[in-house]
Amino acid sequence: MSKVSRQSPVWLVGSAGMLAGDILEELHKADFPCVISDREVDITDINQVRAFIGQRHPAWIINAAAYTAVDQAEKETESAFAINGLGPGVLGAVAAQTGATIVHFSTDYVFDGSGDRPWVETDSTGPLSVYGRSKLDGERRLAEATDRYFTFRISWLYGVRGKNFVKTMVRLFREKPELRVISDQIGGPTWARGLARNIAALVTNGKGNPGIYHYSDAGYISWFDFAVGIRDAALAVGAIDREISILPIPTSEYSLPAPRPANSRFSHDKVRNQLGFNVLPWRSNLDAFFREWKALDFRP
Ligand SMILES: NC(=O)c1ccc[n+]([C@@H]2O[C@H](COP(=O)([O-])OP(=O)(O)OC[C@H]3O[C@@H](n4cnc5c(N)ncnc54)[C@H](OP(=O)(O)O)[C@@H]3O)[C@@H](O)[C@H]2O)c1
Repeated sequence: MSKVSRQSPVWLVGSAGMLAGDILEELHKADFPCVISDREVDITDINQVRAFIGQRHPAWIINAAAYTAVDQAEKETESAFAINGLGPGVLGAVAAQTGATIVHFSTDYVFDGSGDRPWVETDSTGPLSVYGRSKLDGERRLAEATDRYFTFRISWLYGVRGKNFVKTMVRLFREKPELRVISDQIGGPTWARGLARNIAALVTNGKGNPGIYHYSDAGYISWFDFAVGIRDAALAVGAIDREISILPIPTSEYSLPAPRPANSRFSHDKVRNQLGFNVLPWRSNLDAFFREWKALDFRP
């Protein structure tokens, strides 16, 4: 298989997804050549991946493809492990043959949520759900396949594309007289655009030690705090027109098939110090998100 050259593009895998859309826009702004694929190149099929890489010779592979239906994964274990576990291993194995570097995304769900200090990259994992186990499997398979990888564990991702907590809250603010939101799970939101800017800078600079990194916006909050912030930001830009009441509830009052970690705080020291990532406060990122979403007429 031929090797990558200086003119080789970035291959953005899972390009129809929420995070991928923002990454693609940021790479375009940086004038970086990109090739994209979504389901038409199945990352669990090594022959499809080999054929694609053989034709395009990417220098970087950004894997934003994933099985992200966290609760459904409890029943669809096989699909979750194929896409989240096997897939990154396949991409890593093929990349190792060409010298491409892989950027991959994982999750706070690889941790058991114990304690109240921010998780560092060397902490022991202990996923509570099928989704978390499948993502951990993918991290491991990727690291076994190649040395040239950057795995970013992120939490509470949101952006203008697809379904996410922010857009769901705004829809519910418009529909309901009152909302109850969990206040005993603490973590940090990740604005997809902010992460995408950092990823574009990483690819453009091409520097940094491979490995696992933790990333989210700065500040540790509960889902309840986040909902209150979303309501305030939504009111400020006219996404909603009345202040509905939000009540804090414990996790025990909101049962879901997949258990969530109570502590999803990420330390940002490594990503800041070693990769120079810009980690901005969750609240200013949320305001920026709403400005961007407003310009898109708050599309669903
Ligand atoms: N969303 C979150 O809150 C969150 C939190 C922490 C970490 N993450 C991680 O962040 C990354 C990006 O998440 P996201 O929410 O942007 O994902 P997403 O919107 O669900 O997009 C994933 C994309 O991958 C595609 N895909 C699925 N299986 C594939 C396969 N076998 N081959 C090729 N493409 C395939 C999906 O297609 P279909 O739509 O047809 O399935 C979809 O277009 C993922 O690694 C995710 O695990 C997300």
